[in-house]
Amino acid sequence: MWDFSGQVVVVIGGSSGINRAIAEAFASAGAKLAVASRNRNKVDATVKALRELGADATGFCADVRDPEALERGLAEAAERFGKFDVVVSGAAGNFPALASAMSSNAFKSVVDIDLLGTFHVMRAVEPYLTQPGASLINISAPQAQLAMAGQAHVCAAKAGVDMLTRCLALEWGGRGLRVNSVMPGPVDGTEGMRRLAPSAELSEQVRQSVPLKRLGQTSDIAHACLFLSSPWASFINGVVLPVDGGWSLGGVSSLGPVLEQALASGKR
Ligand code: HXC
Ligand code: NAP
Repeated sequence: MWDFSGQVVVVIGGSSGINRAIAEAFASAGAKLAVASRNRNKVDATVKALRELGADATGFCADVRDPEALERGLAEAAERFGKFDVVVSGAAGNFPALASAMSSNAFKSVVDIDLLGTFHVMRAVEPYLTQPGASLINISAPQAQLAMAGQAHVCAAKAGVDMLTRCLALEWGGRGLRVNSVMPGPVDGTEGMRRLAPSAELSEQVRQSVPLKRLGQTSDIAHACLFLSSPWASFINGVVLPVDGGWSLGGVSSLGPVLEQALASGKR
């Protein structure tokens, strides 16, 4: 449906799961791709897959907690491709744990990757954005909006990500840059779901807690990112878009006690 021929798309944390599917969707729509994450093998495999889809693609290794590494990789990507039309920032970490079982460093590690990492990405891409016109998308989670037992670190970090989205939408809107968040619901076959609901029983409970009674597909999230970066969304700025089958209307919190019980009984 969408044509991104000739456009440059950067996906940070793009080497697996939802973010890789987003990169692949843009590649299939004609874009040039730069992807980044920590693991060289994952980056290389993703670049290979993107090239097989016909895209001009490159990748680099960087931890989003290391702004200099990000800056180096992005400078190389810009040298190769020119200005960035779309940036997706989706690196994240999660492990279910009750707050009382978390060290300061455990809480901090998720805040550093999800929230501070998103800030690092936004700051590092800024000099290379197509201006006016670039679309920036931060990947959030329903835990940003609804409290959930066992997810204090993710809830706090992703709430911060969404507020960063809104602040940047205000500050950068005058330059024709749009900044939005996409909030995936529980997505089938992903690392996030494997960690949150590792058994078939827990996964079924998650499915039942989604008003649409199904888990998301990575393509559901990718399509939302294509739409938000298309001319059809040119007046959409500063929104947090749930793509979650209605999970953020309540299902997220209803699952908390299930997770809490599983953690307390040692099943997680
Ligand atoms: C308590 C834990 C823990 C656990 C780790 N820690 N796992 N504490 N319970 N289950 C603690 C460690 O003991 C340590 O604290 C601190 O966290 C940092 O751990 P490290 O292993 O040193 O960190 P690091 O190597 O930087 O790895 C970061 C990570 C890791 C987040 C811990 O899991 C990771 O790299 N994850 C990336 C992939 C991922 O999580 N994908 C899912 C994204 S899904 P101490 O005090 O011992 O030093 C998502 C939302 C999903 O984001 C929503 C689903 C619906
Ligand atoms: P995933 O496969 O683990 O993807 C995370 C990506 O980020 C990987 O490419 C990972 O690669 C990279 N990454 C992790 N830590 C990094 C760091 N410190 N620096 C740079 N890159 C890092 O997880 P996923 O389940 O698909 O989740 C993707 C996004 O969707 C996340 O933002 C998550 O919060 C969000 N989300 C997921 C769900 C779900 O159901 N899965 C629901 C709501 C929101 P490396 O290991 O190579 O670094």
